[in-house]
Amino acid sequence: MKAIVVGSGGREHALAWKLLQSPKIQEVICIPGNGGTATLPGCRNLALSVDDFEGIARFALVNNVALTVVGPEQPLAEGITDYLQAQSLKVFGPTQAGAQIEASKAWAKALMAEAKIPTAASAVFTELAPALAYLEEQGAPIVVKADGLAAGKGVTVAATLEAAKAAVEAALGGQFGAAGCQVVIEAYLEGQEASVLAVTDGKTIRPLLPAQDHKQIGEGDTGPNTGGMGAYAPTPVLPPSLLEQVQRDILDPAIAALRDRGIDYRGVLYAGLMITSTGELQVIEFNCRFGDPETQAVLPLLLTPLEDVLLACCEQRLATLPAFDWQPGCTACVVMAAEGYPERYPKGMAIEGLAAAAENAVVFHAGTKLEGGTVKASGGRVLGVTATGPNFDAAIARAYRAVEQIQFEHRYYRRDIGHRIQGLIAQE
Ligand code: AMP
Ligand code: GLY
Repeated sequence: MKAIVVGSGGREHALAWKLLQSPKIQEVICIPGNGGTATLPGCRNLALSVDDFEGIARFALVNNVALTVVGPEQPLAEGITDYLQAQSLKVFGPTQAGAQIEASKAWAKALMAEAKIPTAASAVFTELAPALAYLEEQGAPIVVKADGLAAGKGVTVAATLEAAKAAVEAALGGQFGAAGCQVVIEAYLEGQEASVLAVTDGKTIRPLLPAQDHKQIGEGDTGPNTGGMGAYAPTPVLPPSLLEQVQRDILDPAIAALRDRGIDYRGVLYAGLMITSTGELQVIEFNCRFGDPETQAVLPLLLTPLEDVLLACCEQRLATLPAFDWQPGCTACVVMAAEGYPERYPKGMAIEGLAAAAENAVVFHAGTKLEGGTVKASGGRVLGVTATGPNFDAAIARAYRAVEQIQFEHRYYRRDIGHRIQGLIAQE
């Protein structure tokens, strides 16, 4: 069968790569894809925009595509699934109504309150004066979130009241356009963050292996937030006992609440969690898609054919699928970026050493393109280098060995991916 993967990042390369490991998958078409999907055997890129729903539907119908997997949140929030489903195409990814769980933080908070899902106390504002009064009342530290999609830049974790006020003023003043006309002000939570990507057919929901990512650009988790500088799985901060609690207190109630709202959600529900120092679980956010770079860390360990899982979700028969089969061991994914990211960064650098690195790791491409037979950097996050090993020390060491084999001008990567679990591994 043929499958389409919509998107052009490392997550989409990982999805295409994993789909192609199944003998049932003849071809993957990545729309628009990147330099990695252009050179992946069995995969080809199609130069359509992710919001060209009509073009994507036409291609899928003419080419008898069995499954379309949507990577990024934007087309989901704009209704790609509704559009393709209306033409009887199978799509892995929620409808526009379901995607609100990521596209509106206020909507997600209301759903969590209704479903009694543990999350930080919060209030929603559209007017400046009451928002500022609320901040005065609550004090700092406090978190200010633009309601809508803001390309990962809409959240300010404010250490001081002044910073919080400035964030509210900026958001309500139009810094994020329509996405910031409404703000959620939320209590500050402390602890370890973890990501649970759970697949669902709208009735049954099952977590994949839990992961952790490193959002900040600098070593020691410092500096501005990025799309993610590295990830690893399965994180020991969410052992099976806690994962059961995630299922019972978060995933099952979330799907039930979506159903109560008449939403038939088929895709990934990504729970961004905080595990507080007292071991409590709190939801920081829900996303309506696979995480990036968590997907690059989680999928290499999946042994169950990915298309079986995704089609079972599309066809509402996830409950009949046996428990997912995982390769024992651990993964570490180190993101190689262009220096300057997440601000201004150079593009067009030729990338060397990819073949040598492939002996130690799978190199997922993010911001790359193939130009005259050469792979060149074309984005802020350039590559996600994922290695597997019997334990985290081995996986991390192999990932860095592969990273050091890859050369391009102005490359930047963090050397401390996995540092937050060092103590935990030692205690095992
Ligand atoms: P979000 O876009 O909601 O994932 O937020 C981006 C990042 O901001 C999260 O990954 C956290 O690191 C941080 N964050 C969000 N909400 C909170 C909170 N209530 N307390 C502490 N940190 C938070
Ligand atoms: N790695 C964070 C995200 O995908 O939102």
